[in-house]
Amino acid sequence: MSNFYYQDGELFCEQVALREIAERFGTPAYVYSRAALSQAFSAFTAGLQGHDHLVCFAVKSNPSLAILNLFAQMGAGFDIVSGGELARVLAAGGDAGKVVFSGVGKTAEEMRAALKANIRCFNIESAAELERLNQIAGEMNKVAPVSFRVNPDVDAKTHPYISTGLKNNKFGVAYEDAIALYQRASQMPNIAVHGVDCHIGSQLTELSPFLDALDRVLWLVDQLHDLGIPIQHIDIGGGIGICYQDETPPAFAEYAQAILNKIAQRNIQLVFEPGRALVGNAGVLLTQVEYLKPGSSKNFAIVDAAMNDLMRPALYDAYHHIQPVVQHQGLKSAVYEVVGPVCESGDFLGHDRELAIQQGDLLAIMSAGAYGMSMSSNYNTRPRAIELMVDGDQVHVIRAREQVSDLFALEKVLKA
Ligand code: LLP
Repeated sequence: MSNFYYQDGELFCEQVALREIAERFGTPAYVYSRAALSQAFSAFTAGLQGHDHLVCFAVKSNPSLAILNLFAQMGAGFDIVSGGELARVLAAGGDAGKVVFSGVGKTAEEMRAALKANIRCFNIESAAELERLNQIAGEMNKVAPVSFRVNPDVDAKTHPYISTGLKNNKFGVAYEDAIALYQRASQMPNIAVHGVDCHIGSQLTELSPFLDALDRVLWLVDQLHDLGIPIQHIDIGGGIGICYQDETPPAFAEYAQAILNKIAQRNIQLVFEPGRALVGNAGVLLTQVEYLKPGSSKNFAIVDAAMNDLMRPALYDAYHHIQPVVQHQGLKSAVYEVVGPVCESGDFLGHDRELAIQQGDLLAIMSAGAYGMSMSSNYNTRPRAIELMVDGDQVHVIRAREQVSDLFALEKVLKA
């Protein structure tokens, strides 16, 4: 059963009514279910038992310390893309030895911090990055473990903004250049070749692009083996989609089995970098209707959450279910544009939603656990929402609501 469910017309998260949470902590509020998070992590790893594996949660999808700490306790590693994310992982009690560092633009300072922490692997995305890492590791008297993120040129069949495995985007090294890069790396004094990495995109709902990419990675692993460059792990990246509306992504077990079938008896560790699949459906954004504004062509429900809190609808035209927190009996429904108060026409959370609501009602924007808070901003000088974690019948504040004064604390006016 989902950890978000209706009971007597009220939406619950685990054993707590979302209405009570809104009354206690105000809105907008991100609410996560601890059970949903831990169940997702357990389900992801269940299918991988019996094969050497490491699940590195993609921190960018939800960098909350409490969530990182929960996954760390369950044995997770982490996929990071910045020095800031490394610092978060360490602050949350994560094990640096299980951290893989992705991203096309690692700075020298970020490389130093990661080498100092002894991370598990750098996922290298260009020849220039390899040169820099070798130099910095040399200065530090270290040997940097690396994978190359290869671009397998497969179509992930997802939104173009979150598709990363095609030739024409900035990610990874070209498949045809990979062997020469591995040869170069294997001769560098301060580089140790460990793995092959790929990540082809996000919110994938079919298995075939993953398997096509894996075939190309395995071909590379075999070529490298013949050249005397052994590979210890394959990093398959993240990307498994979730159901926002009516998508039918592969179940974790099916995904794991299909991958294990291809790996067969190879003695090679599998690394995964799931983000959305572990957190997306474990969180909602709770908001209150400020005003209803009927119109001749559109009715607007103006809520107190906005594009700065949840950017996905504005940025990708993404769909999130919007559900009443308390269902009304006998109230006539209408079709609404659910919009925030931000001064942009793109500030919407949902188009054409049929809702039986009145002013002051609470709404839950579902599937907001991934790329919700992590992509939020202070646009319009709006403090970021409070974050709460429900655990059974308990509600914990895991990030306090920002105060307006926080937002200009680093600023100053110039003297005349
Ligand atoms: N590994 C790498 C190298 C990545 O770039 C990403 C996501 C992941 C893993 C995790 O992917 P996931 O399992 O979450 O699909 N903001 C967009 C998604 C951007 C994904 C960026 N990279 C959204 O809200 O849909």
